[in-house]
Amino acid sequence: MEDTQESPFGFRTQTEVQQFKRLRRTRMTAVLRSMVRETRLSKDDLIYPLFVCPGTKVKKEVSSMPGVYQMSVDEIVRECESVKSLGIPAVILFGIPERKDETGSEAYDELGIVQRAIHAVKKAIPELFIVTDVCLCEYTSHGHCGIVRGNEIVNDESIELLAREALTHAQAGADMVAPSDMFDGRVRAIRRILDENNFLNLPIMSYAAKYASGFYGPFREAAESTPKFGDRRSHQMDPANSNEALREVEADIGEGADIVMVKPAMPYLDVLRRVKDTFRMPTAAYNVSGEYSMVKAAGRLGWIDEERVMMEMLTGIKRAGADLILTYFAKDAARLL
Ligand code: PBG
Repeated sequence: MEDTQESPFGFRTQTEVQQFKRLRRTRMTAVLRSMVRETRLSKDDLIYPLFVCPGTKVKKEVSSMPGVYQMSVDEIVRECESVKSLGIPAVILFGIPERKDETGSEAYDELGIVQRAIHAVKKAIPELFIVTDVCLCEYTSHGHCGIVRGNEIVNDESIELLAREALTHAQAGADMVAPSDMFDGRVRAIRRILDENNFLNLPIMSYAAKYASGFYGPFREAAESTPKFGDRRSHQMDPANSNEALREVEADIGEGADIVMVKPAMPYLDVLRRVKDTFRMPTAAYNVSGEYSMVKAAGRLGWIDEERVMMEMLTGIKRAGADLILTYFAKDAARLL
């Protein structure tokens, strides 16, 4: 092995070759580091989540999510103007209804809170891309994502309601719908109703591999959607599973999903990479509320450099295979990009 006399580079020994290999060379200057950089975060990758609530001139900060607010429709429009001017192409809307009931009826009401917000934002800023979260948990009195019978969250009736919800979002002017419930067959039910109503070109981004996660805690304060009893483990995924995530994603693609999502992001980067490599689909990652709150909290305590950690985290999510990132950091990141 020592004998490399034949080497066209003139190295005499393998040891000598090793001595000439210096991986640090391309890290020595900022220009060079930038030239060899493999992953680049862009504003175009970002989707900013917004919480719409009843009333006017309401802008109420979510205590566990500094910088995130529940906003009435008028304030949402103003917020969307600032989102647009920062160069962020898209928002995703979540609704906090006037009244909650057993079947979450405001979710599929043409005059529901999200439907009204879509109308208002589209009128003011037509070029802003509006995604809507399709789920019932914010609208039901019990806080579950579908109809509850006894102690079961029923699947097939719930997906019919989700389909109706998606249709009303489309009719109000949404550009894409994003079912977040994790029931079986909901993408197909939504695709069918959209097609029957001539929304053939309206894409579906499915929360395809969504885990039953403790990281949703702050969101449930923001969306007022904490279940009154039980949990979401009968439909959301077990954090221990990754092969099952591939089966979930495969099912949603088969039912017509155009973009597939992995959620949360940070603890599931391995799943994100597997999904991207296996299916080569446009893939989204949801950098969820708890991931945001942890960074904000540690930043406020002076324990970490918030901006630096934020950019590292978003870059890591992109490097792991995300084409799109839903993140509460979208505005902060856009200011630095
Ligand atoms: C359900 C939904 C949830 C999130 C997005 N859509 C919460 C849940 O499943 O309980 C969580 C997002 C986050 O934590 O930022 N409508």
